[in-house]
Amino acid sequence: MTNIVLLIFLSAVGQTQSGMEALRQGEYLTRIAGCRDCHSTNFTEGMAGGSQLISPFGTFFTPNITPDIKTGIGSWRLTNFIQALRFGLSPDNVIYYPTFPYRSFSKIANSDMAKMYAYIMSQPPVERKNKPHQLASPFNQRWLLNFWQFLFFKTKPDGPEESIKIGVGPYKSSPQRSNLWNRGAYLVEAFLHCAECHTPRNSMGGLKVNQWMAGSSEPIDGLMVPNITPAKEGLADWTKENWNQFLTSGYTPEFKSVRGEMSLVLHNTASLTAGDRAAVIEYLMQLKPVSRSGE
Ligand code: HEC
Ligand code: HEC
Repeated sequence: MTNIVLLIFLSAVGQTQSGMEALRQGEYLTRIAGCRDCHSTNFTEGMAGGSQLISPFGTFFTPNITPDIKTGIGSWRLTNFIQALRFGLSPDNVIYYPTFPYRSFSKIANSDMAKMYAYIMSQPPVERKNKPHQLASPFNQRWLLNFWQFLFFKTKPDGPEESIKIGVGPYKSSPQRSNLWNRGAYLVEAFLHCAECHTPRNSMGGLKVNQWMAGSSEPIDGLMVPNITPAKEGLADWTKENWNQFLTSGYTPEFKSVRGEMSLVLHNTASLTAGDRAAVIEYLMQLKPVSRSGE
């Protein structure tokens, strides 16, 4: 089955060589998006799910996204995959919890989603049944997610630069900005999803758009999430070289290394190509400086 999907994809692409190139890009994009960080319990077993995500609403267990027909997503077509990432909806139109960061992935272009799909479907299937989430009432009622989507996902953005942050994708370039900035915005907001942790949330789990990347007082695994905008209380002093060092080796200018989930993120950013890393740095250094003092 896997091979059939792959063959169809390869013939759709036209030539085997460009098909292989598409798979390579799919692997790259899947890696920088951190799919594996959540969808595997260790790095050797593929994305068979089962890892625990602890949240204030309860414990989530990630599903199996290997191409296993019985327990994974082996029967999914490309359209099912796009619907999940773009709209947060299962093939049966059940709404996903935003713990699956589809608010970000929604901004990924169809062509890139197709490459990620081809890559994921080319991996060995792993048979492992999904575990049900253990959520407290009322969060265990999926229909309530209609409200979350209505309030924080389907919101109509004000302009092209707002549409990077909220609303359903795909990402549209901002004509006022350079190609480098636009590539960086696309990578940071659609794939790297830094804002999912570094932007504070309101009591209903929506991101505070006017405090984009200003840090959060809600600790993650006991670690405070710092302000990464170029504000005084943030990273105003960081130069391009500092960012470059951080994203490749994981060291801050004070030679401190970060812990917890941030170290997983850096594992992914370390594989950015030099051109993509430059774009990411361009975008991060031009974030609006925001201070959270007086919040
Ligand atoms: C922060 C953790 C996290 C990351 C990162 C993440 N996911 Fe998930 N994903 C989840 C959770 C949790 C669910 C279950 C959501 C639910 O049950 O409503 C999920 C569900 C899914 C599903 C639905 C599976 C099904 O059986 O219905 C797919 C497909 C999926 N993720 C693909 C991806 C891909 C592709 C990536 C990378 C682009 C990714 N995920 C990154 C946490 C994550
Ligand atoms: C899964 C949540 C999560 C995601 C996603 C995330 N971060 Fe972090 N980040 C953290 C946490 C938690 C810390 C604090 C780590 C510590 O104290 O060791 C941190 C620390 C940092 C720091 C250190 C600042 C300092 O001066 O010490 C920087 C810079 C940073 N993150 C940038 C980013 C960028 C850029 C992205 C996107 C590529 C990103 N983060 C994505 C959770 C996250």
